[in-house]
Amino acid sequence: MLEVESLTAGYGDVPVVRGISLAVAAGEILLVGGENGAGKSTLLRAIAGFNRPSGGRVRLDGRDVTGLSPERLAQAGLRLVLDNHRVFPELTVYDNLRMGIAARADRTGLARSLEEIYAVFPILKERTRQRARDLSGGQQQILALGQAFIAQPRVLLCDEPSMGVAQMLLPPILSFLRHWARSGTAVVIVEQHLTLTRPYTDRAMIVRRGEILLSCASAELDARLGELHEARTQAYARG
Ligand SMILES: Nc1ncnc2c1ncn2[C@@H]1O[C@H](COP(=O)(O)OP(=O)(O)O)[C@@H](O)[C@H]1O
Ligand SMILES: [Mg+2]
Repeated sequence: MLEVESLTAGYGDVPVVRGISLAVAAGEILLVGGENGAGKSTLLRAIAGFNRPSGGRVRLDGRDVTGLSPERLAQAGLRLVLDNHRVFPELTVYDNLRMGIAARADRTGLARSLEEIYAVFPILKERTRQRARDLSGGQQQILALGQAFIAQPRVLLCDEPSMGVAQMLLPPILSFLRHWARSGTAVVIVEQHLTLTRPYTDRAMIVRRGEILLSCASAELDARLGELHEARTQAYARG
């Protein structure tokens, strides 16, 4: 569904993403980890059209969409949920959710999608008439996800869903993303809480200084990280 080939992107002349390739199939979740400043957010922004890639290709369902605007990409079915859970603060929860419908190919079935999201996060139903700005950070993150869910993208990019969210909210958010992927969406989750996030994902990739440090099945992640750590310790011991 999503194919990224040798993508490079940065700010001005400073390359931040340096030749990253990845592919995510419908129904699959890719976990992208890596330290702060590794280039994870820049990677997502470059895929979603917020940063213009300086090289490489992005394909959506086989179609080259490199360099399209975020609006065009949203229409094509690719959506980025930012780590600062941006919602419309003055609008009610319901109106925020309804905004998602604009990007949706099939505008019927809104009521059903709303029921689905309310079933997982009843707080959104309880707060339908409240303004988004009166929600907590975690509730705003859930609302941002809800809005994206209503839009029914074919590819969902989710930047650090744990950011500004109480840790107890992360498992329900992740299991919601898992449920969502099962309906045929390709999902990329950027997250630093690897141990907590890994079980909900299929494949994992660690980014370091804008490059792929390792890429493997999620089930192998702990072992691969262990090997890497071991190799580094030995190299260090040898001087
Ligand atoms: N808007 C920006 N302008 C200039 N440099 C930026 C900007 N955003 C991020 N950077 C730099 O790009 C690098 C990667 O940042 P980012 O993609 O946010 O990393 P991550 O999401 O992995 O923490 C960092 O060195 C950061 O300082
Ligand atoms: Mg980031």
